Amino acid sequence: MRDRIRNSLILPPDFQPIQPSWAEGALVYHIYPRSFQDSNADGVGDLLGVIKRMDYLKELGVNAIWLSPFYPSPMADFGYDVADYCNVDPMFGTLDDFKQLMAEADRRDIRVMIDLVSNHTSDEHIWFKESRKSRDHTTNPFNDWYIWRDSVAPAGSDTQQPPNNWRNALTGGPAWEWDDTRQQYYLHSFDIHQPDLNWSNPTVRAAIKQAMRFWLDLGVDGFRVDAVYWMAKEPLMSDDPGNPSFVEGEDLPYHALRHDNSRGWPAVYAYLSEMADVLHEEQYKDKQRFMVTEAYPEGHNPLVEYLNFYVGMDPKVAAPFNFEGLTMPWDASTWRKFLRAFHHALNQIDPHCVASYAFGNHDQPRIATRIGEAAARSASVLLLTLPGMVFLYYGDEIGMKNVVIPKDMVQDPAAKGDVIRGDLQPQGRDPERTPMQWTAAKNGGFSDAASTWLPLAPDYEQCNVEAQLADPDSLLNLYKKLGTMRSQSDSLKHGQLKVLEVDSPYVLGYSREHTDSDVQAYVVLVNFSGEPVTCSLGAPLGRRLLSSLSPSAGSADGAELQPDLAPSEAVTESGSGSAGEGSVRLESHEAVIYAAV
Ligand code: NOJ
Repeated sequence: MRDRIRNSLILPPDFQPIQPSWAEGALVYHIYPRSFQDSNADGVGDLLGVIKRMDYLKELGVNAIWLSPFYPSPMADFGYDVADYCNVDPMFGTLDDFKQLMAEADRRDIRVMIDLVSNHTSDEHIWFKESRKSRDHTTNPFNDWYIWRDSVAPAGSDTQQPPNNWRNALTGGPAWEWDDTRQQYYLHSFDIHQPDLNWSNPTVRAAIKQAMRFWLDLGVDGFRVDAVYWMAKEPLMSDDPGNPSFVEGEDLPYHALRHDNSRGWPAVYAYLSEMADVLHEEQYKDKQRFMVTEAYPEGHNPLVEYLNFYVGMDPKVAAPFNFEGLTMPWDASTWRKFLRAFHHALNQIDPHCVASYAFGNHDQPRIATRIGEAAARSASVLLLTLPGMVFLYYGDEIGMKNVVIPKDMVQDPAAKGDVIRGDLQPQGRDPERTPMQWTAAKNGGFSDAASTWLPLAPDYEQCNVEAQLADPDSLLNLYKKLGTMRSQSDSLKHGQLKVLEVDSPYVLGYSREHTDSDVQAYVVLVNFSGEPVTCSLGAPLGRRLLSSLSPSAGSADGAELQPDLAPSEAVTESGSGSAGEGSVRLESHEAVIYAAV
């Protein structure tokens, strides 16, 4: 009775404990539709191609997919220049194909997230075509849907001068383009053909939220929101300051300036909150929709930049990408420091804040190229045992590498702003966007066309899905084991991450532990070095479940734990090996998962 009275004083009668979102613990597979699977032999991937590979994704343990843009687009930036937010480009299929994709995903319990390019449209979008017609607000309702400014050239001068020194992020050239009809400049933070929307105009915000509803009504589970920092600029549009650490010829020209004013103004959190509110609308509550925002930190403290998003948006429905897996050096102590600080800070805000890790995407060099093949295997263990959403970029599960693109085949407009590295001509982001390598057949099983939009990697006959499925210790089979383990384990999906003290500077150790003590907890150890290491944790370990070097040897189902280690493996466990009590030997670049005791 006393308890009842007390509870009724503390808790409102309709109190429900917060339910973790599906996003918590999800393995999300990032598909770049142009390059995943072609179904109509035009050399470019499409939506029916994605459907064809849906069983593969299911077997990989994927919980959700994120599709890069498939909207109607002139493809100036390969779909990130959207000409219609509510349709499908014929190159990728039809709206009916998309509906079919949704049904096929649903049948397999796979969630679907789509890209929302909210900062800019294509210059072929009807909104921009109307906006550029006239600056007269009495006759043109689209007059201020984009960011238009007068030339600041002195009166009487016969040349134009843009209002400030801002640069576009794609090539590092000017961010302003003169428009003869309006006799004004428009702002494009990316390509000339991607004018920035004016987010301070509430009608623009309403229009984007309507586009969100269009897709939510079709059942999509969430959005990856593009380039959000650019949605809010310094109101007076002051010049960006110079970047003192810029190295000419080494850094991209865009980084000659610090982008203090051209992006990242605090209004961005207000705009994103408005978008997150749409996900809370009554009709969308059934499926716990979620959005993940793309914002690369540029300041001296990335952690603060990530946390600002958790505070600025509702963490129940939104999270920022955490790009440390793309940008941090592959180094145990850096990771140790980041994980400790980041997860501690998230807990301070709300234990259900969803972390969001990506080790690869369509804008960044492939992980196998960046850290090497051996380390890419241990990175798979790290990625799939981290909390929150983990994003796997298509092809990284088979170790696809950056592909050198012949000069006459380079497609990416960003190549124009690339720097020359060694004897490589500017390539932009094409090297990480090449077609998926499915088989050793022509075009790697990606397409029946005579040629593909980007060339296949030269190693596709050896490095492909079919070959790796046949090798029990392949990277793909390692990913499959990890995917299965993650999907079956409440500790890996919802447990806290605790960084452990390991007496080696080369080894990162952490545990994943659920609050329910009956749920199996895990200890993960990652050797970041190219040398074998013997280290101690100062705590006993249970059975070893998986090694990145020989995934076929352990049992990673998380339920029936078998200590069936291959005799050749030199890992010793608590009190049972030559390395002494509580010590473990890890081979070069080996990552292991133990049951915790
Ligand atoms: C980020 C996207 O990932 C990239 O591919 C694109 O070029 C820019 N935003 C502009 O939309």
